Amino acid sequence: MQLKNFVSITDYSKEEILSILDLAEEFEANPNQNLLQGKVIATLFFEPSTRTRLSFETAVNRLNGKIIGFSDAATSSSSKGETLKDTIRMVSNYVDLIIMRHPLEGAARYASEVANSVGIPVINAGDGANQHPSQTMLDLYSIKKTQGKLENLKITMVGDLKYGRTVHSLVMAMSHFNPTFDFIAPEELKMPEEYKTFCNEHHIPYTEHTDLANIGDADILYMTRVQKERFLDPMEYERVKNVYTLKNSMLEGTKPNLRILHPLPRVNEIDYDVDENPKAYYFQQAKNGLFVRQAMICRVLGLK
Ligand code: CP
Repeated sequence: MQLKNFVSITDYSKEEILSILDLAEEFEANPNQNLLQGKVIATLFFEPSTRTRLSFETAVNRLNGKIIGFSDAATSSSSKGETLKDTIRMVSNYVDLIIMRHPLEGAARYASEVANSVGIPVINAGDGANQHPSQTMLDLYSIKKTQGKLENLKITMVGDLKYGRTVHSLVMAMSHFNPTFDFIAPEELKMPEEYKTFCNEHHIPYTEHTDLANIGDADILYMTRVQKERFLDPMEYERVKNVYTLKNSMLEGTKPNLRILHPLPRVNEIDYDVDENPKAYYFQQAKNGLFVRQAMICRVLGLK
């Protein structure tokens, strides 16, 4: 039987995505269950994380599984020169599932090929600027929860659309639901051509702007951090690092159903005065990650 991984959002059909969101709703109502008793799960984080790692680990703990792993690759034998292939092959000896974040695009797919050869599935917790499918699943959950639907929404994405893996995954996921996109980014950080081609091929209308204006018709305002760690040239980062800051006053005249999402962490792109606005949803969004990740783990392990 072919193993089910969660490496890219495109690994899952619309029906499978909706079924995982339904399961996440069940976990939100009842997060403490015995489903992972006897299972050991590895979290291998070769890049820093707060939300993704801690919510995955909380998800395992609340389902009565056990966690092993590292949050800093410097404490693993990769710092002695062990290859990713050997690391994954070794960890596969100990666990039932590997959850991995890695700075290299494609690393999660490669890890899944190595781990699957010995019967262990992999969940991608972010690979470079490529994909962040568990973030996308919690984004979909948050959109559905706040809008009551996923179909026919106007989604305005703002900030680092070049390196932001969360917006790349979200564009692909929303293609099932007839969205309209507005991509707001400086020239240096525009949405990459491959995702615009994807939109064209799927008949998804989009516009592009460089000014943070005209947000009045958005249902979802998806803010992103400029991804300092992906820049090869520090001067280029300095030029764009504070390019957009959303302020509370800018939300006047926006739609009543508008919700502001952000994968977090934020740096300067959302003023603290926005936090108390009822349209700010980023902290609840991060909380939703727990339930969604419980559902993803169960689906990949064939439970529920
Ligand atoms: N959204 C997200 O991936 O946050 P962390 O980097 O803190 O995991």
